[in-house]
Amino acid sequence: MATRLFEGKEHASYYQKFRFEPSQEIIDLIFSYVDERLPKPYGFAVDVGCGSGQNTRILSPYFEKVLGTDISEAQLEETKKAQGSPNVTYSLCPAEKVPVGDVSVDLLTASAAAHWFNIEKFLKEVDRILKPGGCLAFFSYLPYMEIHYKDRSEQMTQVFAEIEATLAPYEHEKFEHLRNGYKEIYEAIPYPDKRRIENIVTKIRMPLAGLMGLIQTFSMFQTYLRTEPEEAKEMIRTVEERFLQIIGTSSIETEVELCFQNFLVLASKPQ
Ligand SMILES: C[S@@+](CC[C@H](N)C(=O)[O-])C[C@H]1O[C@@H](n2cnc3c(N)ncnc32)[C@H](O)[C@@H]1O
Repeated sequence: MATRLFEGKEHASYYQKFRFEPSQEIIDLIFSYVDERLPKPYGFAVDVGCGSGQNTRILSPYFEKVLGTDISEAQLEETKKAQGSPNVTYSLCPAEKVPVGDVSVDLLTASAAAHWFNIEKFLKEVDRILKPGGCLAFFSYLPYMEIHYKDRSEQMTQVFAEIEATLAPYEHEKFEHLRNGYKEIYEAIPYPDKRRIENIVTKIRMPLAGLMGLIQTFSMFQTYLRTEPEEAKEMIRTVEERFLQIIGTSSIETEVELCFQNFLVLASKPQ
């Protein structure tokens, strides 16, 4: 049965507003891999578990056609709020059953999503739809984050670590795939041409308000909110106050830098 933790309308709206796009370094790594394996122009990309479409839109200039898919209607509804591209469409469906033809896809991506899927069924579906030489790219971030602000980075990061500790009991078991950098998912890919790249560091500047929004997109925060709504809201209020106090400002628009690590799994279906 599919894991459905991204169905709420408010959650989806936070996603659209506060989730980041994949970094240029991740995009470059994907396309230098794809460039070596597929002739240009590229035809068709599918982004599964696309959420509100941050990664799907990025693929648009590289492909003739891009399809974003997700099982959450609320998330797909949010894709309409971003500027659309004529070559990008979306479909409500599980990643384990994508409504496209056999051997039709040049690149299949899953951004912060593959850990939620039924891996065995999903990899069979990937094999059905990829063209020979077609590539897959699964990537995500590690859930340990640092917050940098002038000489207050240590205190800011400490508050973030405390949030992670509070949310730990609400973490889904599938998070284990994230914590081990998709090692098992990588091992399950049946293609000999594959690689796993770790320690891709992303640094993003964002206002404190954006950071507070991002925290509320985390699936474990949403589980906390459903289980203990008053405590979860209180945690957000307290954390915001502590961040402001540490920085010594009353402005939620003060910019901080978020720093975290990503990993990327790449593979190509044999010709
Ligand atoms: C953490 S979000 C990532 C969204 C987006 N790709 C991003 O990078 O921000 C995970 C998404 O995977 C979707 N999802 C979970 N299980 C799925 C499945 N079996 N098939 C398709 N989508 C799924 C969820 O609905 C959610 O939108």
